[in-house]
Amino acid sequence: MSFPENRPRRLRRSEALRRMVRETTLSVDNLMFPLFVCPGKGVRREIASLPGQFHLSVDQLPREAEAVASLGIPAVMLFGLPERKDAVGSEAWHPEGIVQRAIRAIKKAVPDLVVATDCCFCEYTTHGHCGVILDKNGSMVDNDATLENLGRAAVAQAQAGADLVAPSGMMDGMIGFLRETLDESEHPDVILLSYAAKYASAFYGPFREAVASAPSFGDRRGYQMDVANIREAIREVALDVEEGADIVMVKPALPCLDVISEVRREFDVPVAAYNVSGEYAMLKLAGEKGLLDYDRSMMETLISIRRAGADLVVTYHAKEAARLLTGKV
Ligand code: PBG
Repeated sequence: MSFPENRPRRLRRSEALRRMVRETTLSVDNLMFPLFVCPGKGVRREIASLPGQFHLSVDQLPREAEAVASLGIPAVMLFGLPERKDAVGSEAWHPEGIVQRAIRAIKKAVPDLVVATDCCFCEYTTHGHCGVILDKNGSMVDNDATLENLGRAAVAQAQAGADLVAPSGMMDGMIGFLRETLDESEHPDVILLSYAAKYASAFYGPFREAVASAPSFGDRRGYQMDVANIREAIREVALDVEEGADIVMVKPALPCLDVISEVRREFDVPVAAYNVSGEYAMLKLAGEKGLLDYDRSMMETLISIRRAGADLVVTYHAKEAARLLTGKV
């Protein structure tokens, strides 16, 4: 009888040993929690497509921000449901726009909580596209006209007190343009987190339901990336890093673990990944049906995104994960 010479199982014999040789860690420090801000007063309404997530009116945000901060989560990412939509999405840059009011409310209540803002127009336009429409039939978004408006929105967010602006529209030149615009408007300290490699993914479905931003015609494939491409993702990230992105993001996360890992290898800036609405909903619903152990599959998902190379994970699981990580209820 010959016995195996190599015995990797030696290192798995107890939890203490497994802890000693664990290669990847997940901490609350790695998490960013998305929040959906809606009009009205006293509104805290569960989102049908995202069970466990809520539409919150501005007056509810101080309490929510305190809850997030007390779990040790360092940052929130804000999305707005505007009072009114129009063809260009002008509420996105109005000083009293929904997100601008939300930023001020959170910063007043919990100044140390990092406030990041999604900077895009699909929630604000009547047609649901991420910018100014050039040609209705081709559903083409006018790149350069959209940049001008993105600049307005970024400055409005910075003026309201955002620490970090995250343009998500996949317009060419958006990072360079926004860096220059923010610097010229005396906001050189505002961080740019670029949705640098954002794919035209089916996994955004529940989010679009949550913010009513599904395009009313056409789709987003004229600006978001083809899911079949990875070299193109590297090119997109390289441009954004060159243009001054402080953090680059890959989105979605689970279908793009290879992209995250390649971006991590190629670049030195912090890398974020967006664990999107469809990824969250899959686990949530399977957990509710008893098909998956929700807590374990959530933690496995988050650690796998970290293992692929993401420093930061934007995730709807953030509060639940933080409770498990810190033992707080
Ligand atoms: C665009 C934006 C989207 C998401 C984040 N920012 C939607 C889209 O591109 O259609 C999706 C996030 C998610 O699915 O959780 N403003």
